[in-house]
Amino acid sequence: MTNHEVLPLLDQVADGVSQAIAHARPELAGADPVVRRSEHADFQSNAALALAKRARTKPAELADALTGALADDRGPIAHVEVSGPGFLNITVPDQLIWDQVADRLASPRLGVGTPHDGQRTVIDYSAPNIAKEMHVGHLRTTIIGDSLARVLGFLGAEVIRQNHLGDWGTQFGMLIQYLDEHPDATWRHDELEPGTSAVSALDELYRAARQLFDSDSAFADRSRNRVVALQSGDPATIARWKEIVAESEKAFRDIYDRLGVLLTPEDSVGESFYSHLLANVVAELTEADIAVESDGALVMFSEDVTGPDGNPAPLMVRKRDGGYGYDTTDLATIRYRIQDLKANRLLYVTDSRQALHFQMIFEAARRAGWLTDEIDVAHVPYGTVLGPDGRPFKTRSGGTVRLMDLLDDAVSCAHAIVSEKNPDLPGDELDQIAEQAGIGAVKYADLSTSRIKDYVFDLDRMVSFNGNTGVYLQYAHTRIRSILRKAGDPDVAIDPAVELHPAERALALELDAYSATIADVSQTLEPHKLCGYLYDLARDFTSFYEACHVLGAEEPVRSNRLALCQLTARTLQHGLGLLGITAPERM
Ligand code: ARG
Repeated sequence: MTNHEVLPLLDQVADGVSQAIAHARPELAGADPVVRRSEHADFQSNAALALAKRARTKPAELADALTGALADDRGPIAHVEVSGPGFLNITVPDQLIWDQVADRLASPRLGVGTPHDGQRTVIDYSAPNIAKEMHVGHLRTTIIGDSLARVLGFLGAEVIRQNHLGDWGTQFGMLIQYLDEHPDATWRHDELEPGTSAVSALDELYRAARQLFDSDSAFADRSRNRVVALQSGDPATIARWKEIVAESEKAFRDIYDRLGVLLTPEDSVGESFYSHLLANVVAELTEADIAVESDGALVMFSEDVTGPDGNPAPLMVRKRDGGYGYDTTDLATIRYRIQDLKANRLLYVTDSRQALHFQMIFEAARRAGWLTDEIDVAHVPYGTVLGPDGRPFKTRSGGTVRLMDLLDDAVSCAHAIVSEKNPDLPGDELDQIAEQAGIGAVKYADLSTSRIKDYVFDLDRMVSFNGNTGVYLQYAHTRIRSILRKAGDPDVAIDPAVELHPAERALALELDAYSATIADVSQTLEPHKLCGYLYDLARDFTSFYEACHVLGAEEPVRSNRLALCQLTARTLQHGLGLLGITAPERM
């Protein structure tokens, strides 16, 4: 196998049109050739329409001039036809299309390059809060962030995953105090009944502590002292805090393992990590006059954003009681990621309600001079998961839905539909496939809706074999694998002289667009574009398979078709992999 990048046909054609532009109208050299895939030909260029005005001519005339230039030096173009007011309908030679398929098939990376080489990208994702149940919002950041980590990593970026756990703050003083005063409360995982997690137990104890705090002023005072003890590093308090963090992390890890995400314990760099840096950050911002006194607190007033009252929106740098909160920690965090981790791209995957928070953090970092134009920074927001009633997803009693229960439900739904489709699967294998299908279904449903939109959590739809679902794609992959197994999984050689059937052509051109799709996801940070691509690819395969015999075809057609099957199976499997979804061999 060879590892070089395969230049997509679209780019080759675009180069050809660019050269024609420079040749026919030197004053337009360098202009965008505006090449797209087309329904009327392989590709279409709208350059003549886009550039006619600049060339002081009619689109049709410019189109003729470009066609003439392309006739002199065809490059990757077999045939050009002017249509409508000046569209260039472009057909590429069959041989070139077969060569692309062969080259991609020969590459372990499917011919995809590494355009992000040399980039160091921090992705902040998941970040649940210690002693609190992870909710469906954390499911989204975990799934989306993980897919982005895979995509950017595959394109060559050095990805630094950061799990910004909510493991610090005054609430821990209260919880620790409560646990100390209630030694009989059970919350460690080895004391609990199987099926309950330490986080749920802590979550409940936290509520009880909060109630006591609000009703008993002596307890409230003891809790405040505990906060001081925690922040000044009192050994007994720190030991208890560490224990709480470890118990919670264990429960989070169970979810991560089940989801199969990349996050490891080393990626956990929670809020507490920054606590010793906060005073220094505050001093730096104060000296630079970015943080100013307001009502006894230190705040930064935004120069860009106004709050609901029409005044500049404030960022809380230090509270009136002298304490530091979420805002201060994120200031220290961004400085650390730029100055210590030396990242040149920073991504924060959280729900869209935190948009203003991050806008203000980025503004502060820019004003402080930490964030420069060489560094790309983005909040990657996402919408809310809704229940069947169209309201934010909650349990019937209005509580947080336990993620583990949700995943269990998805897997048992998948179990039911897979065993119905394939009753002969042995039990063990069925269980394993159901796990892959159920988890894949949840992930795919999340990734396939446009990120910023809300979506309804609907298990029946998610695990369906029909429509744009993870199960449909996994199944499409298994069907192709079964064809290939029947053929004996041969190493095939492509004969580029074979004339392409229209359905082969459509499939091959779609396969060739894989790298552009991934590049698009890396720019827009929208994994649903990859989902949409894989879905189209699976459907192009279906049309091809309906129109063309594979196993029963004569050579050399048969080998060429098997090559298309192989490349489709590998692309589906690889693309699902970038979404964090496994593609089983059978279902
Ligand atoms: N723990 C926060 C939450 O649950 C998310 C943290 C996101 N990352 C950050 N750097 N603020 O909402």
